Amino acid sequence: MSTASSYPVTVIVLAAGGGTRMKSKTMKVLHPIAGRSMIGHVLDAVAGLEPHRVVAVVGNQREQVGSHIQQLLPGAVLAVQESQDGTGHAVRVAWEALDPADRTGTVLVTAGDTPLLEGESLRAFVEEHTAAGRGASILSGVVPNPHGYGRVLRDATGAVTGIVEQKDATPEEAAVCEINSGILAFDAAFLDSALPRLTNDNANGEYYLTDTVQLAREDGLVVGAFAIDDVLQTEGANDRAQLAALAKEKNRRILTRWMKDGVTIVDPDTTWVDVDVRLDRDVTILPGVQLLGATVVAEDAVVGPDCTLKDVEVGSGARVVRTHAELAVIGADANVGPFSYLRPGTELGSGGKVGGFVETKNARIGEGAKVPHLSYVGDAEIGEGTNVGAGTIFANYDGVAKHRTVIGRHARTASNNTFVAPVRIGDGAATGAGTVVREDVPPGALAVSAGPQRTIEGWTLRRRPGTAQAEAARAAEERDPTISHGGQGE
Ligand code: UD1
Ligand code: CA
Repeated sequence: MSTASSYPVTVIVLAAGGGTRMKSKTMKVLHPIAGRSMIGHVLDAVAGLEPHRVVAVVGNQREQVGSHIQQLLPGAVLAVQESQDGTGHAVRVAWEALDPADRTGTVLVTAGDTPLLEGESLRAFVEEHTAAGRGASILSGVVPNPHGYGRVLRDATGAVTGIVEQKDATPEEAAVCEINSGILAFDAAFLDSALPRLTNDNANGEYYLTDTVQLAREDGLVVGAFAIDDVLQTEGANDRAQLAALAKEKNRRILTRWMKDGVTIVDPDTTWVDVDVRLDRDVTILPGVQLLGATVVAEDAVVGPDCTLKDVEVGSGARVVRTHAELAVIGADANVGPFSYLRPGTELGSGGKVGGFVETKNARIGEGAKVPHLSYVGDAEIGEGTNVGAGTIFANYDGVAKHRTVIGRHARTASNNTFVAPVRIGDGAATGAGTVVREDVPPGALAVSAGPQRTIEGWTLRRRPGTAQAEAARAAEERDPTISHGGQGE
């Protein structure tokens, strides 16, 4: 079996075009699909060839595009095409940017905007090209509506003779449904000789890379086309509508792969999973879930309905319902939601709980610890087995700086508490309802800050006469004469 490393492959990625139909300040190839830029998907597919060199041709917004490429692939060579004079010109610019010693072996040219492209397909194409000993190969596809594409021309014997662009095609040529995907492979020596021979004598006034196919044939070299079955892999997104369509298809493919691997996805139509997400077997995803970034979900966890998790780790057997979470860790068998908001730095221990209308940030919540209702937990550490009462605020911000609250193990803090950080509550400690904890509470102590209750009888009738409130109080007194009118001062 031949492997990618058995021949040197140089890849040229074309990304100098303006992408004006996107109508965006962001360059076309930088628009994301499934958590990665379109060019990121292309570079990932290209990596499957184990290329010796990758040259990216940049032009429009070269700083933005170039730095993104070098971030993804630090070894990439950037070639700047000052004016977009056609794909042939772009490849020439790339060729000149290459070290002459690297101008050998096989050269693959591809566009930067095909997010469904797979490394496997490129490998099969390049292997066929080298095995057939061709000067030039076209990755072609047969499509029902070929309008706009270059058409692959063949002679009576079926041998490829060249490519004709839409604008230059005769009606018979335009009727051909085999198109040039834009991905071509070349023998380096041939490409080196062909690039200076390209002209811009055509309807677009551009240097067409596609003219190399006819040149190779004229040189007596073998040329050919390899038709890909899965034509969507070579499809580019030129506008926002195509971007959405390809994103949906990419997502469908990602979900299909996870379902084959043993993940239950109840409603693929409302589930979105980024490429870098990892899911274990027997994970269940309920409708309306987005798993983004580097999110990881372990075995038997159930996520959904209606969650957005970005860069979140969900432990095995955990249950996450109607939750928005980012850069958070949810322990095994933990419960989150409904309506929870886990912000960066949240770590919920195994068997722990973050319940309804609870927001957490920078918070380590221990094993089996619970924050069940209506709370804000910011800059906190909560020990194992501790229960935080309903409606608790961790007041972490004094208007200038953030401070931490530390609560020990198996503490019981009551409802409607405020922890004014920095403050520490010891192991096994307790607080009373409505307590504002400003000072440390030692282990085992009970802290109560609310004063004794004062009850002023008859207050409503005296201070709110003529209101519905007063009428209700009066009616209650009428029914039950033992209710005191009060009379003493307030
Ligand atoms: C090209 C092919 C056509 C093929 C189609 C597939 C040529 C002459 N035609 O069409 O046969 O069916 O792709 O999509 O090659 N680019 C540059 N610099 C330039 C021009 C283009 O970097 O000067 C880049 C673009 O950013 C894009 C790629 O090359 O990534 C293809 O260019 P585009 O204009 O989209 O393709 P066409 O020329 O229409
Ligand atoms: Ca063009």
